[in-house]
Amino acid sequence: MSTLKAVRGTRDLLPPETALWNRIEATARSVFSRYNFGEIRTPVFEDTALFSRGVGEETDIVSKEMYTWEDRARAQSEKTQTLTLRPENTAGVVRAYIEHGLGESGQLQKLYYIGPQFRRERPQKGRYRQFSQIGAEVIGPTSAGSESPLRDAEVLEMLATLLDELGIAGWTLHLNSVGSAADRARYNQTLREALVPLAPQMCADCQRRAETNPLRVLDCKVPADQPLIDTLPVIADSLDEASKAHFAAVKAALDAAGVPYTLNPRLVRGLDYYTRTTFEFTHGGLGAQNALLGGGRYDGLSEMIGGPKAPGIGFAMGEDRLVLTLLALDQNSAPPQADAYIAPLGESMNAAALALARELRHAGVHVELGDGSFRLKKSFESGNKTARKIVILGEDELESGILTVKDFSSGVQTKVPRAELAGFLQN
Ligand code: HAM
Repeated sequence: MSTLKAVRGTRDLLPPETALWNRIEATARSVFSRYNFGEIRTPVFEDTALFSRGVGEETDIVSKEMYTWEDRARAQSEKTQTLTLRPENTAGVVRAYIEHGLGESGQLQKLYYIGPQFRRERPQKGRYRQFSQIGAEVIGPTSAGSESPLRDAEVLEMLATLLDELGIAGWTLHLNSVGSAADRARYNQTLREALVPLAPQMCADCQRRAETNPLRVLDCKVPADQPLIDTLPVIADSLDEASKAHFAAVKAALDAAGVPYTLNPRLVRGLDYYTRTTFEFTHGGLGAQNALLGGGRYDGLSEMIGGPKAPGIGFAMGEDRLVLTLLALDQNSAPPQADAYIAPLGESMNAAALALARELRHAGVHVELGDGSFRLKKSFESGNKTARKIVILGEDELESGILTVKDFSSGVQTKVPRAELAGFLQN
């Protein structure tokens, strides 16, 4: 019988790497709570229309990458629906904001999430079909200050703090403004005209997009199209005075906070809901898939999915890529080790060894429990791979209450009274 394997583009995360995932998530939660964000958990699948309307029909995500299926009615009271595994979480958060009337409090909602997303992309290093995002959104009525450029700058400053606390040195913040919906409509028209002579020489996707949604031509990755794309007009020239002033205020606040950035006029991002500020943080250690995270403003998204006006800004970090970056920076190469390995001398000592392990674990010691069926040589080999010290437990030790402990790195052997054992092992 053929063996079953994890589906292409998905993978198992195993220890010791999962310890790194947990550390990243704990650091993110700690930073988010200092900035007064609360956690939101939305379902992993949603009505397909949420993404086609929110993210945009012409985006790569919606047109090619979604896992969508028809969910057949199982009772007369149900209707058959088209559902999709979430390819991203901003649309789901805004749906929840609308559904629960979160804007009615009149306060800004500051929400973060950590969880799996699904896109049927071609798998490669740093690009998976199931991947995890750590993201956050700031959304609310205009009266709560949701459109203020200070919000944009604060989110970007928080990201700089988070990456620094994670130990990711050498990131670059790429910053742009894609303007208001009206600016974008104007820019799309400018692009459409500029593309008339160029499109016939471009790839099939670009030819279609030149008609339907010219902005998406800027997402094209086909190498032969890049020199043509470089000649296209930039969006900065289509911004009106209000959009320019908003962007200038974001930059001034970042300058005041000492957060460095690089202006990147081609950064329009691959989702249709963006308005005004857009950004990505990249890291050189990642290779082709070098975006650690991306985000921006989405002042019209709520209305696009049937809600009230609720401007917002947010981001999502690729957790898989954070892990790859930290591994490349070699910050976490040493596997975590237990404090002690308990080696019962003979199977008759197994029960007493379990009792000793329980006692030590309750005192906070990290314990690996051996097995009395092992010869002493094998216990030492296993112990050396998993723990810093080994504790021998035989009849004599049990009766006398004095245990023999050997430190693997120094080779020193010490007799320790049972009452002092927990403290000794933690040193
Ligand atoms: P995005 O740029 O599509 O934005 O994804 C954000 C990040 O998720 C990327 O920078 C990357 O690190 C990671 N990512 C995306 N696709 C994959 C993949 N196939 N494998 C591994 N990592 C991946 C969004 O998703 C927006 N919802 C961000 C946002 C939030 N904008 C406003 N609020």
